[in-house]
Amino acid sequence: MRKTQGSKPQSLKGRRVLVEQMIYYNEMERGQMPAVIGLLQKISDFNPEPTTYDRIWADYSQQGHVFPIVAHLADGFVLGFGALLIERKIRGGSLGHIEDVATHHEFRGKGIGLTLMSKLTDIARERGCYKVALHCRKHNVSFYENCGFEASGTSMQKIL
Ligand SMILES: CC(C)(COP(=O)(O)OP(=O)(O)OC[C@H]1O[C@@H](n2cnc3c(N)ncnc32)[C@H](O)[C@@H]1OP(=O)(O)O)[C@@H](O)C(=O)NCCC(=O)NCCS
Repeated sequence: MRKTQGSKPQSLKGRRVLVEQMIYYNEMERGQMPAVIGLLQKISDFNPEPTTYDRIWADYSQQGHVFPIVAHLADGFVLGFGALLIERKIRGGSLGHIEDVATHHEFRGKGIGLTLMSKLTDIARERGCYKVALHCRKHNVSFYENCGFEASGTSMQKIL
């Protein structure tokens, strides 16, 4: 059913009307890298060279504790992405981290982000996580509150 995207940019032509059709949520495949990396430019503008995709995918996909989910139409057109990372804690138990949630700008406000969050949370629950956590920008707080999250602590980082 699903077709891969190669390295061509996605074309929007004729697709806006298709969004009411069935949206599929599946584990990401290598061929979806160009579309997913395109979506993630909204979060940060790091854009790896397409010649490095194979090496990045080989490193990324062999991690047993990372679960990347893609929302797409039946023809493979990518509408959204999100990933869950499961960390084993030093005092035991598993903590899920949700990362890189983004939906295509033409298809926002249609419940895709909410469904991605629900799928990632379900995976965390099925894998025995006691909690899921994420960092986000202030303007996205109400989106995550809509997903059942609540603010906790202050996020900090140091760019290396
Ligand atoms: C944040 C984002 C993933 C939401 O995706 P989406 O598919 O538009 O979300 P949904 O349609 O499932 O929205 C769910 C609910 O949250 C609301 N919502 C969506 N984005 C919101 C935002 N940025 N701020 C406040 N509320 C928001 C929607 O209105 C909807 O509310 P409703 O059910 O009461 O109508 C999307 O706006 C996006 O990709 N943003 C750019 C990338 C980004 O900032 N990602 C987050 C990284 S921390």
